[in-house]
Amino acid sequence: MKKSDAWKRKIAYQIYPRSFADANGDGIGDLKGITSKLDYLAELGIDYVWICPVYASPMDDGGYDISDYYSINPMFGTMEDMDELLAEAGKRGIKIIMDLVLNHCSDEHEWFKKALADPNCEEAEYFYFRNSENGAPNNWRSMFGGSAWEHVGNGRYYMHLFSKKQPDLNWENPKLREKLYEMIRWWLDKGLGGFRIDAITHIKKEPTLSSLEPDGDDGLVGCFGPTRNYPGIGDFLTEMREQTFDRYDCITVAEAAGVPYDQLGEYIGENGYFDTLFDFTYSELYSYGHAWHTCKKAWEWPISLLRDKMFASQIETAKIGFGAVYFENHDYPRASEKFLPKEYQSPLSQKMLGTLFFFLRGIPFIYQGEELGMTNTVFESIDDVDDISTKNHYRLALADGLSPEAAIKAVNRYSRDNGRVPFPWSSGKNGGFGEGTPWMKIHPDYRSVNAEDEARNENSVLSYYKKMVALRKSDEFVETLSVGDIEPILTEYDDIIAYIRSGNGKKVCVICSFSPYPLNVKTELIGKKLLLSNYENASLPENGTIKLSEFEAIVFEC
Ligand code: NOJ
Ligand code: CA
Repeated sequence: MKKSDAWKRKIAYQIYPRSFADANGDGIGDLKGITSKLDYLAELGIDYVWICPVYASPMDDGGYDISDYYSINPMFGTMEDMDELLAEAGKRGIKIIMDLVLNHCSDEHEWFKKALADPNCEEAEYFYFRNSENGAPNNWRSMFGGSAWEHVGNGRYYMHLFSKKQPDLNWENPKLREKLYEMIRWWLDKGLGGFRIDAITHIKKEPTLSSLEPDGDDGLVGCFGPTRNYPGIGDFLTEMREQTFDRYDCITVAEAAGVPYDQLGEYIGENGYFDTLFDFTYSELYSYGHAWHTCKKAWEWPISLLRDKMFASQIETAKIGFGAVYFENHDYPRASEKFLPKEYQSPLSQKMLGTLFFFLRGIPFIYQGEELGMTNTVFESIDDVDDISTKNHYRLALADGLSPEAAIKAVNRYSRDNGRVPFPWSSGKNGGFGEGTPWMKIHPDYRSVNAEDEARNENSVLSYYKKMVALRKSDEFVETLSVGDIEPILTEYDDIIAYIRSGNGKKVCVICSFSPYPLNVKTELIGKKLLLSNYENASLPENGTIKLSEFEAIVFEC
């Protein structure tokens, strides 16, 4: 099917359903809650909504451990609620994108239960079971810490690249693949707008599953080499595309870490496996060694590092396709914590960060709460945390001798639960999240940072996001700001990231200053029309200079 490329001119929004809106008062966000907030999303100008997994799941990893692909987790509602959401979204011109988790399922999935009970059954072949006399079959480390193998008795082990409750699916088995394709078609038949496809670069494993040189004191080795974008993966991805996505008018967004630029074409080129992907090269600038508590502060690297990586990604992607751009998602702390020192985190600098990513070439994904300028929350003890990876890093900190108080402080900064606190809808009871006590503590700032108050305030981060969306979708600039070219400028300035978008006979300049001081920047650009700024009195370039206030963002036609 020849697909339309209209999606490139659209705006997407990501929802973490457990924490978005609770309609039935049990303290947990649900599908009816999402439906009740569709007008909010429509008003913001959203076209696609990606919902993190709502399938049946024991919720060991926030729903990325699916026990039945064909049913809705009762905590989120029913299949009727899902149908209602699709219908109501459709009325507002919004398409729903679901998460598609294909690298692993839950150990509570019936396939796995059968496989455990009978090593000779068909389902046993859907997983990576191996027998080993002397401990784990190899020394690969799981992403959430510890061995990637779990013993089930009698020297029988199964592989799990993520938690032990997420056994990896064996894509080498054609029957399993057909079951997955059937399931994908079943969902697309319901009228989904598409899928965000989880951890998809991991589905092919190095076939001999051999141990490798350890890279840590635990004697284990990170499993990226033998399980990420491993040669031969393309056969599976091509087959999946032909058997499923190709037959529908839908978009596919791959979570595709580890794809080198010279292979981008295979993924998102003309005949790529997917329409677009998330590139992680510029969102993880800090490297934390073996654990979060040993890491430098996130922003202790030069802005030029972010700039270089971001533009490398932009330029390489523009050569062959169209990316998906984002600054936040459910796997990261809040962006201002990653990119700005605490003392400079403010609505002003958050608008600047928003501007920087929003006008890049690619479809923007706004993560819930980002449009309010939410910051990291405060976890007082590990009991406030749900996330499996945060618990793992907390354990590592304790093992290294940190006190519980120091350990929780150290992991708080990087915890992905920062982005998973209940959405603050108002300054009222429970931040307007719902009648019941929320499943996770609400952000302490909800009285000032919430959707209701920000909607009333013209200078809020929310009002600014609405302006950004409106500008990017405006008839006048939509072509330029979506599919237009991108060119970095002013790269000689350490604290500035700036670029020009051009196309459709127009040029738009975006300048973002990370400096806490005003700057006079030399430029030959001629400012034709001011389009947007986080300052009321922003000025266009004059006599070869543009004056920038601290943390200024300015967008103008040139
Ligand atoms: C990526 C998801 O975004 C993350 O939340 C999850 O833990 C892993 N994949 C495993 O499914
Ligand atoms: Ca609920």
